[in-house]
Amino acid sequence: MVSHSCTQAFLLCALLVLSLCKPSYGLGIVIYWGQNRHEGSLAETCATGLYTAVNIAFLRVFGGGQTPDHNLGHCGRGLPQATCTFLSSEIRACQARGVTVLISIGGPSRSYWLDSAADARTVKEYIWNNFLDRRHLRIPSIWTGRPRYMVSISISNVVQTGTGMISAIRTGLLDYVGTQFYNNPTCQFNNGNPNFLAQSWSNWTSLLASNRTSNTQLFLGLPAAPDAAYNGGYIPPQRLNELCTVFTQSPRYGGIMLWSRFTDRRDGYSGLIRNRCVDRVNSATLSAEKLIPYVI
Ligand SMILES: *[C@@H]1O[C@H](CO)[C@@H](O)[C@H](O)[C@H]1NC(C)=O
Ligand SMILES: *[C@@H]1O[C@H](CO)[C@@H](O)[C@H](O)[C@H]1NC(C)=O
Repeated sequence: MVSHSCTQAFLLCALLVLSLCKPSYGLGIVIYWGQNRHEGSLAETCATGLYTAVNIAFLRVFGGGQTPDHNLGHCGRGLPQATCTFLSSEIRACQARGVTVLISIGGPSRSYWLDSAADARTVKEYIWNNFLDRRHLRIPSIWTGRPRYMVSISISNVVQTGTGMISAIRTGLLDYVGTQFYNNPTCQFNNGNPNFLAQSWSNWTSLLASNRTSNTQLFLGLPAAPDAAYNGGYIPPQRLNELCTVFTQSPRYGGIMLWSRFTDRRDGYSGLIRNRCVDRVNSATLSAEKLIPYVI
């Protein structure tokens, strides 16, 4: 089982899969993008070829009749680009390269919830109108097929859902769980005790496997640089490369989730860990047939 402090998980963000063009890409590195305007554009990020998916962060306020709000550093009030609709063409560029684009709804603000399916539809409309240009973006078969869910979990922050999150994971309805093994000394890499992270990982995979019929896969969420995490969890690339078989051997391994593009671009972390930690991944496709109507 996941230790007590780890069960104090809360939903940091759920990811709506915004787009999919090509199926059958194995998982790999999922990168957070959006917080820092010096990190390069979305299209440039996808063009690096380093990432399987880019997660735009964050739509931080929504639900319950609130006007949705985001905190992207690239567009919005007071920024040179007042609206984010230009991202449409960049999303298309990402799709053309087979990179899945997600939007992270939630984040640390915690000013979000959904009251009902109707509330969720309002949020969906907002996303359409502010990030996507309906006239030019073709999203394949949005309302057909099974939705895909990915949830990114912070284990360091406020306790809210506690066992609720554990129960949600057990339902098997989540396709991908990205656990943030950083900013939390009770779960993250401990230089003096490398087995600690392995144990932490094993606790999470056991949780996922406690529902034997589910296919939920686990992403190892890590900071891409020491200064990307305020409370630790950074693993130097050579060290991670040594450790990676612990994760890749697990049938539940989905890949690596990195925070965030700004530091990865600066330090080249993902390029240094790809060969050992990602290329062996043979897992399900991160794909979506529709924009999911609501979030757990
Ligand atoms: C386990 O996962 C399957 C597949 O998602 C689901 O149908 C089932 O209800 C889950 N079992 C429990 C006990 O939640
Ligand atoms: C893993 O789970 C065991 C059993 O619940 C617990 O004692 C241990 O502290 C956990 N370890 C980590 C690193 O989460």
